[in-house]
Amino acid sequence: MVKVTELGYIGLHVSNAQGWKDYARDCVGLEVLDEGEHDLFYLRMDNWHHRFAMHVGEQDDIAYMGWRVGDSEDLTDMEDKLQAAGIAYRVASIEETAERRVLGLLKLQDPAGVPTEIFYGPQIDMHMPFYPGRRMHGRFVTGGNGLGHCLISGGDVKAMYDFYKLLGLSGSIEYHLGTPGGVVKPVFMHCNDRQHSIAFGVPGEKLLNHMMLEYTDMNDLGVSHDAVRQRQIPVALQLGKHANDQALTFYSASPSGWLMELGWGGCIPPSQQQYHLLDVFGHAPEVSGIGLDVQL
Ligand SMILES: [Fe+2]
Repeated sequence: MVKVTELGYIGLHVSNAQGWKDYARDCVGLEVLDEGEHDLFYLRMDNWHHRFAMHVGEQDDIAYMGWRVGDSEDLTDMEDKLQAAGIAYRVASIEETAERRVLGLLKLQDPAGVPTEIFYGPQIDMHMPFYPGRRMHGRFVTGGNGLGHCLISGGDVKAMYDFYKLLGLSGSIEYHLGTPGGVVKPVFMHCNDRQHSIAFGVPGEKLLNHMMLEYTDMNDLGVSHDAVRQRQIPVALQLGKHANDQALTFYSASPSGWLMELGWGGCIPPSQQQYHLLDVFGHAPEVSGIGLDVQL
């Protein structure tokens, strides 16, 4: 059965274009690609034309997530699977497919309401190697592991699990976490060697709670941490190491309000499931009310 292979691209609604360009370059190290479209610019993290399409407007939330399959046959097989499961989708137009810079594209929606795209054949610009926005010791972890992961708020947890299971992801509850509203039991799901590409089961006002990007070199995480601290950007959770993906990370506010988790050292998915109550160390709460008031 066909399965998605990676979280390939993400579209974001952003209201503060200049704030995002500065933040992406200086705090994160991403490459900003502006092709002169007044309401759209891109962020790169490897040789793909882009990994992030930044749609400039009034809103600040996720616009869509793009999940990759191998080729056109896989995309047809995915259509068959969606039809058999009774999930509504449509085949994107030639113009829509070209706009995403892919060879084939389906459009649907996940149970939380996140516009979801399944595609094959992204445009890879080997003539334009990734040029980091600031000096970097290493690179971003991408390749076959996709761009990172997202924690999506909203949607019935069982319906979300069934939807992403159908797309080909695997996983389960990995934490029982204390929050001001009671215990939450987020689910983490993977589709490649990244420990998880999506998580859900934590309430929130925006669809996107946080996005995680991973560095190959711990020094880049340290440089990002310095940049965030120097700019006095609010930090929700201080540096710490997760029990599930083993990554050393911290969570700070992006220019859109939702949290950016920057990290290093993530592990591969477990072959058998397990769950945790607390992290290995750190992740102490600092600023509350900005998206992740959990006891880790
Ligand atoms: Fe995360």
